[in-house]
Amino acid sequence: MIRKVLLGVVACALTVFAVQAQEMTEEAIKERIKPTGSVHIAGAQAAPAAGGPRSGEEIYNQACVACHGVGVLGAPKLQVAADWQPRLDEKGFDTVWQNAINGIGGMPPMGTCGNCSNDDIKAAIEYMIEGI
Ligand code: HEC
Repeated sequence: MIRKVLLGVVACALTVFAVQAQEMTEEAIKERIKPTGSVHIAGAQAAPAAGGPRSGEEIYNQACVACHGVGVLGAPKLQVAADWQPRLDEKGFDTVWQNAINGIGGMPPMGTCGNCSNDDIKAAIEYMIEGI
């Protein structure tokens, strides 16, 4: 009688252990795939940011590099002090910024950036004169 009960207890314990082992395996699998899941979530979270505010560098690369990269029509070139400093000294940053918004000479209004705000233009200019 006691033997039977003991066997039952052992069998029961084994079942519990087996179930636990299975759960642990599932947990282990979840743990293993977790980093991939996290990376995916991080990527999904980064996506709206990419559609949000752009850096000056991004705006420059999208809208300004075509002319300001090589100096088309005499456009002051990216981070070339000799091109930018005289303009900044003569007019000051705010006027240079206004001229970029309104257009000046061969420089089209907003540098043809249709979806740029005035602050986007400012950020792009700040990037172009960075470190000069
Ligand atoms: C189609 C070519 C072209 C594009 C695109 C362009 N620029 Fe220009 N930009 C010029 C030229 C040419 C000048 C020189 C104008 C002059 O002084 O006669 C200039 C001058 C400027 C100046 C100096 C203004 C001043 O008062 O001296 C700023 C600032 C400027 N651009 C900003 C930008 C920004 C920011 C972008 C992108 C959003 C951009 N430009 C895109 C051609 C371009």
